[in-house]
Amino acid sequence: MSRIIAVVNHKGGVGKTTTTLNLGKALALAGKKVLLVDMDPQTNLSQSLGIEEQEDSIFNSLCDQTSLPIITIDKNFDLVPSDLELTTAEIKLQADVNGYFKLRKLLKEVSSKYDFIFIDCPPSLGILTINSLIAAKEIIICVQSQFLAVKGLNTILDLVESLKENHNPNLEIAGMLLTQTNNTVLSKSIIDSVKGTYKGKVFKTVIRQNIALPESSSTGQDIFTYDPECNGAKDYLALSKEFLNGKEEKV
Ligand SMILES: Nc1ncnc2c1ncn2[C@@H]1O[C@H](COP(=O)(O)OP(=O)(O)OP(=O)(O)O)[C@@H](O)[C@H]1O
Ligand SMILES: [Mg+2]
Repeated sequence: MSRIIAVVNHKGGVGKTTTTLNLGKALALAGKKVLLVDMDPQTNLSQSLGIEEQEDSIFNSLCDQTSLPIITIDKNFDLVPSDLELTTAEIKLQADVNGYFKLRKLLKEVSSKYDFIFIDCPPSLGILTINSLIAAKEIIICVQSQFLAVKGLNTILDLVESLKENHNPNLEIAGMLLTQTNNTVLSKSIIDSVKGTYKGKVFKTVIRQNIALPESSSTGQDIFTYDPECNGAKDYLALSKEFLNGKEEKV
């Protein structure tokens, strides 16, 4: 059975897309069959993989019930691309009584082909993110180690609880992931504060600030292809191992 993981935070720029791409790729390199789903109208994930403006995208599937357009990027590594038009899907989905369940239905058709499906959510808690949280079995919450990082985390946790009660009782938090950490006193104090406040829910692995990560995305490559020796590649490889080993490593 596949693990379906939504990568979330309504705060923007916290590393959701970078994590979806590089954690997914690390697992693909480990021989797991991986599908990435770009649920963000910004299309950053698709662009980071060198995929621009496709005729069919997640938009068509969500709005017209067509099966998911799956593009093979690399061995074991597939993508459902997004489209700028996805912004208009929000209005259509809201007007549909089954609007919150579209992605879950679509993924059911393909999930048996994959070990892992990662959903890259937009920076909002709107209907596209809720579709993702209803389709998922687990979530990863990216937390940037910067001032006010923890603000809003309880909003996500409250939403998860409410979805568990109403629509998706088995939804679990795979972990909170600290991203863009550095050696400053502020960054270290935020790491300590998040690990202290959310004990048992935070990945031991943190993702250090590493310029190779934005560089790799701008060239349409994952970090392992771009520079397998850099800290970004080491951190996402470590995360993939921790992720495969499950809960026992969390702090
Ligand atoms: N560990 C890191 N070190 C340095 N830069 C990073 C790191 N992680 C991500 N970035 C860069 O920070 C920016 C934001 O990252 P990313 O796009 O992954 O965030 P996001 O949460 O998906 O943003 P959005 O909410 O807009 O979708 C990007 O330019 C990305 O390349
Ligand atoms: Mg993003």
